[in-house]
Amino acid sequence: MKLLTVVGARPQFIKAAPLSRAIERHNRQNPERLLRETLLHTGQHYDAAMSQVFFDELELRQPDYNLGIGSGPHGRQTGRMLEAIETVLLTEKPDLVLVYGDTNSTLAGALAAAKLHIPLAHVEAGLRSFNRRMPEEINRVLADHLATWLFCPTRTAVENLAREGITRGVHQVGDVMYDSLRYNAQLAQKRSRVLARLKLTPQGYALATVHRAENTDDPERLSSITRALEALAGEGLPVILPLHPRTRAALRVAGLSPEQLRLIAPVSYLDMLLLEKHARLILTDSGGVQKEAFFFRVPCITLRQETEWLETVQSGWNVLAGFETERIIRAAGAAGPGSGGESPYGDGRAAERIVEIIVQAS
Ligand code: UD1
Ligand code: UDP
Repeated sequence: MKLLTVVGARPQFIKAAPLSRAIERHNRQNPERLLRETLLHTGQHYDAAMSQVFFDELELRQPDYNLGIGSGPHGRQTGRMLEAIETVLLTEKPDLVLVYGDTNSTLAGALAAAKLHIPLAHVEAGLRSFNRRMPEEINRVLADHLATWLFCPTRTAVENLAREGITRGVHQVGDVMYDSLRYNAQLAQKRSRVLARLKLTPQGYALATVHRAENTDDPERLSSITRALEALAGEGLPVILPLHPRTRAALRVAGLSPEQLRLIAPVSYLDMLLLEKHARLILTDSGGVQKEAFFFRVPCITLRQETEWLETVQSGWNVLAGFETERIIRAAGAAGPGSGGESPYGDGRAAERIVEIIVQAS
């Protein structure tokens, strides 16, 4: 069976790695039923720190195709991807296309496959913020409605799909990002030197990330968030902010230079895991980082009004604080441990389950 995986943005390299590992494991154990994976990188992310570093660190093999699409407005970026992916699909003729998450690369991969009647598997299906102003919400709704197989990380995701009338091909498998974290957390502890490099002590700093369009593209919001982070730093808690290139550019445009914050380049995945694990507090608008905070049981303040990862909030480990300075500061002051209990994100074997389901259906 021939699979074609479409990735393009930082979190997708991280999500694709456990599945590629599970495919290789399946192939070692079942040489008579080989799954052949072709890896296509749209080039949505292209800086070394946003792309190559993950291929190196996660031992992902180099993409078979790199479309080099790069940045641009939504329509142009997605349209160029659609055209180029279609060409590859016509050449490769895969039996199945795999897409991850909710980026423009996800949407382009999903549309290209569906129009050519190639079965589509959507990993991380069923997530909803119920906010259609988010580009990601549009991408994930469309990908779900085009998919043949919908691999959901949580029960909530399955229920969201059912409300939209999607019940066929839906499988609750757990979260591949949890698989990835379980595989890499020990490695991070062994290999990463990030704490020494940044002269940080465990529990002695807060970690922040900001990159959502709704926060970066509005100078008022961006300034409101950086003021809150600076207030925390002013109280003696160093705030480390690995800057997404989008945010670096947005700070420049808004004329902001938050000098109290430790602005650093985007870090590698292993460095990020270690920074998260030892942070006293995490403040973020990232989907992946919210969950990783929860996996490590580090209190998290989410710089958004809503989240797709409700379980992190219900457990008390994550608080939605939006973008207003005072609200963020209050939430940070009150942040503490949530409750224990079972993992709502599976047992770290989501990728294996996905492979089993695909193989059984083939
Ligand atoms: C994209 C996803 C978002 C995801 C994020 C992960 C969409 C609509 N958004 O957002 O869901 O959370 O990736 O990080 O797909 N840039 C660089 N170098 C790079 C990549 C980007 O300089 O390697 C800059 C460019 O100025 C670009 C901007 O960042 O215009 C935004 O990049 P883009 O890929 O369009 O969206 P993200 O904000 O990264
Ligand atoms: N990440 C990373 N280095 C960074 C920031 C994030 O490796 O400097 C990882 C993070 O640990 C998580 C993923 O990137 O696994 C999240 O990606 P991002 O925040 O870009 O996107 P989102 O999850 O919001 O779509």
